[in-house]
Amino acid sequence: MKKLAFVTGGNKGIGFGICRHLGLSGWNIVLGAREESRAMKAIENLKSEGIDVEGWVKLELTDMESIENAAKKIEQSWPEMELLVNNAGIPGNMALKSWETPIVDIQQTMKVNFVGTFSLTKRLMPLIIKNNGRIVNITVPSEVSPYWHPLAYVASKGAQNEMTAIMAMDLKQNNINAEIFNIHPGPTTTDLNGNMALPGFHKPDTVGEKVAELINDGKNHNGEFIELYPIVQE
Ligand SMILES: NC(=O)c1ccc[n+]([C@@H]2O[C@H](COP(=O)([O-])OP(=O)(O)OC[C@H]3O[C@@H](n4cnc5c(N)ncnc54)[C@H](OP(=O)(O)O)[C@@H]3O)[C@@H](O)[C@H]2O)c1
Repeated sequence: MKKLAFVTGGNKGIGFGICRHLGLSGWNIVLGAREESRAMKAIENLKSEGIDVEGWVKLELTDMESIENAAKKIEQSWPEMELLVNNAGIPGNMALKSWETPIVDIQQTMKVNFVGTFSLTKRLMPLIIKNNGRIVNITVPSEVSPYWHPLAYVASKGAQNEMTAIMAMDLKQNNINAEIFNIHPGPTTTDLNGNMALPGFHKPDTVGEKVAELINDGKNHNGEFIELYPIVQE
């Protein structure tokens, strides 16, 4: 029987790359998206390559009712779901100095990247535990880089990273056979950064392929923070 994966923000960018490569490596895909036409276009593209797409779930991470409805639909339609990829996310304004960040930017990034992601994870964790499954979060490091440190984005992802580490600890200390871990894809050319393509930027499809390889490697990664492109120290 094929394994089932739910990928949030699966309609474009890195999420679409993950759906594509999970699908090509034998997973059945349920795609999370905010808008029907964007979901259908992505599903059409995936199906044209012979990928099994079970369907899509409407998910708006700023809306608790939407999260509840998405979780109910997954529990009812796909009770064997064993992989949740928390990929959906927003950047906030990356161009400002930290102290110039508008409060609304902090609120919005926290709402999507942390509160929304936490709420969906909290809601689906019992199903993932029942199926001895996995939760994978697509994120950035919490550490402050001298080169790039937009406050709203890094703070919201930092909170998400703590969620992952603490949930992983709770799974381990309670001897639960399920796992949660982080993957940092590194800079990737997508809508999130205005499709920036500087040297060192990756393609979302290549990132999707590497994420799928990690998910399929048969190893336990509970609590890990995995750099897809580790920086090599001289
Ligand atoms: N690109 C990078 O350099 C980079 C690096 C490290 C980590 N990441 C992380 O990778 C993940 C994917 O980013 P990406 O670069 O692929 O960005 P993207 O192309 O902008 O895609 C973001 C996805 O998230 C969805 N989304 C946005 N707000 C949402 C909300 N409120 N509720 C539900 N879904 C929402 C978008 O849906 P719509 O299409 O409806 O807007 C879209 O499907 C993010 O978590 C990001 O932080 C990206």
